[in-house]
Amino acid sequence: MTTQGPADHPFELIQTPTSQLRQSPVTLADTMWLTYSEPNQFHRCASEMACVHNMMLRGLNSIYLQAPYIKAQDEKSFLHYSACFYQLVHVHHDGEEKMLFPLIEEMSGEKGIMQHNVEQHHTFDEGLEKYIKYIRDCLDGKEAYQGSNLIAIVDEFGQNLADHLHEEIMTILGLEKYRDKMKSLEETFEKFANKDTAQLPPAGTLSWGFFNHDRGYENGLWKNWPPAPAPVVFMVRYVLFWVHSDWWQFASCDKYGKLRERLFT
Ligand SMILES: [Fe+2]
Repeated sequence: MTTQGPADHPFELIQTPTSQLRQSPVTLADTMWLTYSEPNQFHRCASEMACVHNMMLRGLNSIYLQAPYIKAQDEKSFLHYSACFYQLVHVHHDGEEKMLFPLIEEMSGEKGIMQHNVEQHHTFDEGLEKYIKYIRDCLDGKEAYQGSNLIAIVDEFGQNLADHLHEEIMTILGLEKYRDKMKSLEETFEKFANKDTAQLPPAGTLSWGFFNHDRGYENGLWKNWPPAPAPVVFMVRYVLFWVHSDWWQFASCDKYGKLRERLFT
C-alpha cells in the first residue's frame, strides 16, 4: 500500500495493476506468462475500476472511523454524507449487472463468465439495504442516530463488499485470455462510466466520489483521474463543493483531492 492516511483502514485499499506493473512488470496474477513494459487495455480498465472501488473504500473507511464521534449538530450532515456511499455502490453495481457484465459476456462469447461477481454482490446486498434504511430512518426522525448502530451494520457487510471490490479487479485482468474478442473493452468501459456518472447527482454523490479520490495515491499516478474535462473539475471544486460543504467535511480528501491528515471528528 502506498498511501498512509486515516482513510486506508479498516478496509484495505486496492493497489492498481498499472502501479503494480511499474514495480514489477511480470507479477500480475493471471498474466504472469507475459511481460509488459506499458499497461495494456486490460491493465488500464482494471486500474480505472480499482480507482472507482478505492473511492468507495476510502469513503466507507471515513464513515466507519468517524461514526462514533459525530456531534448532535453534525448528525444530519454526516448521515447525508453516508447516504452518498450507498448511492455510489448501488448505481455502480446496478450498472455492472445490467450493462457492463452482459456486454463483456457478449464480447467473450461465453455466458456466465461474470456470474461470480454478480453472486458476490448478493453477499452484501442485504447489509447495504439495512445500512440505507437506518440512515433514512435517522434522517426521518424514526430512529435516534447511534454511531455504534451504524458500525454494527457496516460490520455485517463491509468485509464482503471490500473482498468483492478487490477480486473484481482480477476478473477484469483475466479477460485478457479472450484477446481480440475484447478489442472494444475500453470503449465499453467508457460507456459504462458515462452512464454511471450521469445517474449521480452532481452536487451530491458525484462530488462525494471526487472528495474520496486521493490524487496523491501511488505517488501521484492518479493525479489527473477521473478523466473529467477541466471545467467539470473546476465546477466540482469551486461551485458544487459549497452546495453541501457541511457533508464534505467528513470526506477522506479535501476539495483538491489531497488526502486529509486527520479526519474531521
Ligand atoms: Fe466494480
